[in-house]
Amino acid sequence: MPNTRTAVLVKPDGLQRGLIGEIITRFERKGLKLVGLKMLDMTDEQLSEWYAEHKEKNFFDDLKSFMGSKPIVAMVWQGIDAVPVVRKLVGTTLGREAEAGSIRGDFGMSQQYNLIHASANNDDAVREVAIVFSENELFDYQTVMEGVIYADYEMGS
Ligand code: CMP
Repeated sequence: MPNTRTAVLVKPDGLQRGLIGEIITRFERKGLKLVGLKMLDMTDEQLSEWYAEHKEKNFFDDLKSFMGSKPIVAMVWQGIDAVPVVRKLVGTTLGREAEAGSIRGDFGMSQQYNLIHASANNDDAVREVAIVFSENELFDYQTVMEGVIYADYEMGS
């Protein structure tokens, strides 16, 4: 079972609304492991790379200017199937339609101000992590909880 990493950004609206602790708590409670964390102002270059797939969209400039307007918090979370697990906890893009119980469903109303970004697939996760983090900013460690979060066969032992 793939023990993988995924990238999360708490967007400017999430930081402004004081949701950093709540978001971290939800991922921790689920059993995911935090392996990278930083606060930053994303540069135009980083945002162009991050949102390359939206380059032709009419909201591209608006999205970049919003994302670059204020600090964000970037995180890397690790676990078995971390990418789909985090996507499920985050919820669908449009806050007012996102599932109750998800982060966007519980805290968001907007499409652009949807609080949080989560990698869509493993390739995006690898690409996105590298835009914000260098290898020495990512941590490889065991927690004492892992033995009760996963069965031995899931840990590959
Ligand atoms: P996310 O899925 O994290 O990555 C792309 C972001 O673009 C998305 O969240 C929204 O914040 C934003 N977005 C998507 N669609 C629109 C839209 N039609 N207008 C403005 N922003 C959008």
